[in-house]
Amino acid sequence: MRTIDIFDTTLRDGEQSAGVNLNTLEKIEVAKQLERLGVDIIEAGFPAASKGDFDAVKRIGETVKNSSVTGLARAQQRDIDAVWGALKNTAEPRLHVFLATSPIHMTHKLKMSPDQVVETAVQAVKYAKQFFPVVQWSAEDACRTDLDFLVRIMKEVIDAGASVINLPDTVGYITPQKYGEIFKYVRENVPNIDGIKLSAHCHNDLGMATANSLAAIENGADQIEGTINGIGERAGNAALEEIAVALRIREDFYGAGTRLKLDEIKKTSALVSKLTGMRVPANKAVVGDNAFAHESGIHQDGMLKEKTTYEIITPELIGNSSTRLVLGKHSGRHAFKNKASELGFELTDEKLNEAFHAFKELADKKKEIVDDDLFSILTNKQTEM
Ligand code: KIV
Ligand code: ZN
Repeated sequence: MRTIDIFDTTLRDGEQSAGVNLNTLEKIEVAKQLERLGVDIIEAGFPAASKGDFDAVKRIGETVKNSSVTGLARAQQRDIDAVWGALKNTAEPRLHVFLATSPIHMTHKLKMSPDQVVETAVQAVKYAKQFFPVVQWSAEDACRTDLDFLVRIMKEVIDAGASVINLPDTVGYITPQKYGEIFKYVRENVPNIDGIKLSAHCHNDLGMATANSLAAIENGADQIEGTINGIGERAGNAALEEIAVALRIREDFYGAGTRLKLDEIKKTSALVSKLTGMRVPANKAVVGDNAFAHESGIHQDGMLKEKTTYEIITPELIGNSSTRLVLGKHSGRHAFKNKASELGFELTDEKLNEAFHAFKELADKKKEIVDDDLFSILTNKQTEM
């Protein structure tokens, strides 16, 4: 079994979600929960971006003891100095420095030639290595980068001292097979890649961030970057809880796991949702309110007989209290009878039948039947002569 490092960027890329702005105390609260969750690396912010970000990264670096803390920097001395200023007193300071490598970004955004990009990246990594024991370098927009250029610049930054190389799908453009091929290609073609950790960082513009991250793992990625609840720029980042649970449930296929304490997932998701104000959609995989809710009669009947019929993840695995059998118009007699006895009603078969019909009539008019509705139906039937 391989162990994949989990790099959480909820407080950096996640905070780049439109409309989200956490204060320092809120960030510390999230960081402490991420530490309890067991993430290996917390990207606490972008210290050169603002005084608020600098302070938050510094405070998190001083507070968190069991995860390594990192900060983001562009390939500039000023940014690297800011991360060092914030993290120099932490137990395991790390730098995350990035520079774009795709023709689109080099031409239009950086206005630099490929040679200038290589030189700038190398100088930044060399400069950073004077301070940081671990330097991660990211090839921004790696998935739209010419592969031979990617191999060339990776070789140079590794020679300069980078020990983790991240290949982000910055715009959520790649597909799983192609992303896997990039990891395989660089592993086979960068001559000094031995001992270097490869990292995947996926955005969700085409809804493929989780699938792409898993494809990277299949093809040798050592580290996965993402956020809790998949929050982040535009359509967000890869949702770490989905990847960690997929690895656990499909251990047979991936042969890889993480150090996450999966039963802290639900709590972490709820905290991030509360503090960011970003509601988790009810049908969101793993952490959505409906992820363990069953409505149809056929499914409820199956669940009451044997849970594995319709549940591949147990709610307990992620620290959720229990499965919910939601009574609605698709529910059947078996679930209704079960719920009635849970509520303390023992009716004759005839009365139960009548109550079931009353419930079905109401369910046609209401989206979800709550316990109060059932109490009133069942009490009426119990007291009827
Ligand atoms: O998506 C991206 O390319 C990034 C980099 C800064 C790593 O977030
Ligand atoms: Zn990103």
